[in-house]
Amino acid sequence: AKQQDLAGKKIVITAGPTYEKIDPVRFIGNYSSGKMGFALAEECASRGAEVSLISGPVTIQVHHPNIHRIDVESAGEMYEAATREFATASVGILCAAVADFTPETVAGHKIKREKDDLILQLKPTQDIAATLGSRKKDGQLLVGFALETNDETENAQGKLERKNLDFIVLNSLNDPGAGFRCDTNKITIIDRQGATPYPLKSKQEVAKDIIDRLAHY
Ligand code: C5P
Repeated sequence: AKQQDLAGKKIVITAGPTYEKIDPVRFIGNYSSGKMGFALAEECASRGAEVSLISGPVTIQVHHPNIHRIDVESAGEMYEAATREFATASVGILCAAVADFTPETVAGHKIKREKDDLILQLKPTQDIAATLGSRKKDGQLLVGFALETNDETENAQGKLERKNLDFIVLNSLNDPGAGFRCDTNKITIIDRQGATPYPLKSKQEVAKDIIDRLAHY
């Protein structure tokens, strides 16, 4: 059996994509599979934590009985669930690929093809990480993720400060075998002390590295 070093802790994890409705049959989404967030949930539960896993639409399942899964669809629903759950948690891990923009209005009927073009008006969603960061109390820890295509470390450091995170896990799209839909990931953990690069590993092993790091705060 694993060391129960997270016993008594409630950990909130967001995972997967969000779907932003356009009309009754269409949405704006992204390629996040939820695998990294679900691996983190399994790792935390196996070490004794009680996990609230707030998941966007994914095709994977949870196994551990200590994982309480909350299914949501949109960024707005994820925001409601995450703010509610974090209020009574000791840790928040924000792994979800949340839509940054959502349609201003949702068409009541399926939008018809018979037109020359279609312009969707979008409005920004709320930043869950930044909101939880602004509400973070002494003793609570907050971890974010960042997927960058350029100036990775600088951008991640900016997010760490702006969202008031304790550390941020940087996934690079420049690394083959890392990121969306893969079973492997290559991360760098960035906190106010500096950046620690890790080798390419399975998402299960990456989850262990992240939670080992967390357990030392
Ligand atoms: O600013 P950016 O989206 O790159 O930041 C990524 C981090 O912020 C991730 O941890 C992601 O889960 C979180 N995030 C969020 N709510 C949003 C957008 C991003 O929690 N609306």
